[in-house]
Order: sequence, then structure tokens, then C-alpha cells
Amino acid sequence: MAIQVTAAPVLESVTIFRDRFDWRRCMNDRTPIVLVTRKMPPAVEARLQRDYDVRFNPDDRLLSADELVARSEGVDAILPCYTEGFSADVIARLPDSVRIIATYSVGHNHIDVAAARDRGIVVTNTPDVLSDATAEVAILLMLGAARRAAEGERLMRDGAWQSWSPNFMTGTQVTGKRFGVVGMGRIGRIAARRARGFDMEIHYYNRSRLPAAHEEDAIYHPTVEDLLPHCDVLSLHCPVTPETYHLLNKARIDLLPPHAIVVNTARGEIVDDDALISALTEGRIAAAGLDVFENEPDIDSRYASLWNTFLLPHLGSATVETRNQMGFRALDNVDAYFRGVEPRDRVV
Ligand code: DGY
Repeated sequence: MAIQVTAAPVLESVTIFRDRFDWRRCMNDRTPIVLVTRKMPPAVEARLQRDYDVRFNPDDRLLSADELVARSEGVDAILPCYTEGFSADVIARLPDSVRIIATYSVGHNHIDVAAARDRGIVVTNTPDVLSDATAEVAILLMLGAARRAAEGERLMRDGAWQSWSPNFMTGTQVTGKRFGVVGMGRIGRIAARRARGFDMEIHYYNRSRLPAAHEEDAIYHPTVEDLLPHCDVLSLHCPVTPETYHLLNKARIDLLPPHAIVVNTARGEIVDDDALISALTEGRIAAAGLDVFENEPDIDSRYASLWNTFLLPHLGSATVETRNQMGFRALDNVDAYFRGVEPRDRVV
């Protein structure tokens, strides 16, 4: 069987030639049942449909915790997004049939992985495949914030542009400046590589120093506090954990130079909103480019009224190519699990 899928709006065609996997060899004569919590890209849904008995969410409606638990009845695997919270309570209420949660995301802070491990539920994520797309957005945010793109765009759409003048909407040039990274993992390293394209000098903090081959001349700082004074741009790329929750607080923001630009494509919870908004309002830093927020999508509305913010609605991985790859990677993990092989991206 060959399924031909074209994912609009990009003319990307994905052909899946393999036949439906014969689960009888490893699943007691039946096909595993997978609950998919959100509407997936067409190519991903096609592969799901080919290989599994699937409970889709055709309306793409956000499921409440109760709905999540109710829809999990009798399912073997759940393929959620970061939009569904699997707290310890939700995990405790999942039926025993659930054996794997293969999240369609690299971040897994929406899942209480310790609770999942205690219940013997495997958790996997989708690293690597979204690193390029997310790094692109980090650069977009840096440029958008530095060059006042949101203001300029609004002006054009409002038909409010009056004239050109030497002082009109001048921003900050990033070429040759210092690009600071917190979290030099897969995405941080690619963002740094892209920033090098602007001749930027790379500084970073990471829990452990990278081997020289990965460092590529980046300058290591052993603490976040050491890094911050060296950042013309600070780009956040660490996961949110109890240690990194509100990592960018008032005391640390005060260590940034006053012309600094803060970029966040990681998780909103890493930033203390009150502290960042005060610093932006009082001009203690220059600007912020933000793709992620605490309590998404109910973000702190003060961000939208600031002239020096450039805001996106969590678009880091939002390309057709990447969203397909995220789905395939999540499914590779589910496939491996039910074939009795260790899933490549096992978190617990
Ligand atoms: C992730 O994968 O963690 C992103 O934030 C959603 O694409």
C-alpha cells in the first residue's frame, strides 16, 4: 500500500510505501490503540491510520483533564502535545491499558515523568527534528526585537507611515555583537551557529562545558551570573525544571547591559514576567522577542502594550516540514515500543 499525502500550504509530498505493520507477531493478535489528542498534519494522520487503531480528535478541541482520562479508556498509547497536562493526578487516573505517552514535543514539562515512571508508563519526546525551525525563530525574534519589526509592521498595516527621516524608528544592529545562550543543547547550538552568520561572538552558560568540538570558539561562563553582563542578546534555550523556573528574575536581569535584547523560544516559565516587564517598561533593557509565555495562551497582557516587544504565538517548531517530522519521530517511538525495542527518545 502506498499513501500519497500533500500537506498544504507547502507543496511537500510524503509517500509512505510500507504496508501496515502486522502487530499479530507482538501484540496478542491485535493492533495497538492510540489516542491522539490534537489534530495532526495529514501525513502523520495517514501513517497513524495505516499502522494503528486510532482515536483522533478531528475538531482539534483542547481536552480537559477529565476528557483526557475518559478518552484514554482502553488505549495502549497516547500521542499528546505540550498543550495537554499530565500531572501526577491525571497520570494516576489513566487506565492500566496506557503503556506509553509519546509526546509530540521536545519539551516534556507538561508530563509528570516521575509519576509516569512510578506507574510503569514509558514517556518519549521528539528531540532533534525541531532544532532548526526553533533556532530560526530565535533569530527572527532577535532581529524583530532589535529592528522594531512589530512597530514597523503595525504602522504599515494601519496606513500610518508619514515619511522617512534619519531618526525614524532606529533600532539596534546585531552584526558583530555578543550572542549569549543559556542552555547549549541542540537548539542553543544551532541558534549560536546562525548568530555566527551575523559575525556575532558567542557566549554561553550550560550546566557543563561543551567539548571543544561542539564549542566552536564559543566562550563558556560557569554561571548564568557570569554570562549575563556579556550579552548584547540573551537567548534562552534551557528546559524548564525546578532549577530553571523563573531563572531570568529581577536580580539577573539587572546584570544585563541596558542595551540587551532578551529572546525566549524555550518555555515561558523560565522568565519572571513581572521582572521582565518592569525592565522593559523602565528601559533597563532594550527589547524582548518572545515566542513562549507562562500560562499560554493566556499571556500577561502587558507584553502586548509595550512598544519594545516582538511577540509570536509559540511558533518555534511551526513549519510543515518540522511538524511532519515531529509526528514521525513520535510514531517511531511508539512503533519501537510495541515491537519490543527500546524507543530512541525514551525520557523515562
Ligand atoms: C516543543 O516541542 O517542546 C515545542 O515547544 C512545541 O513544538
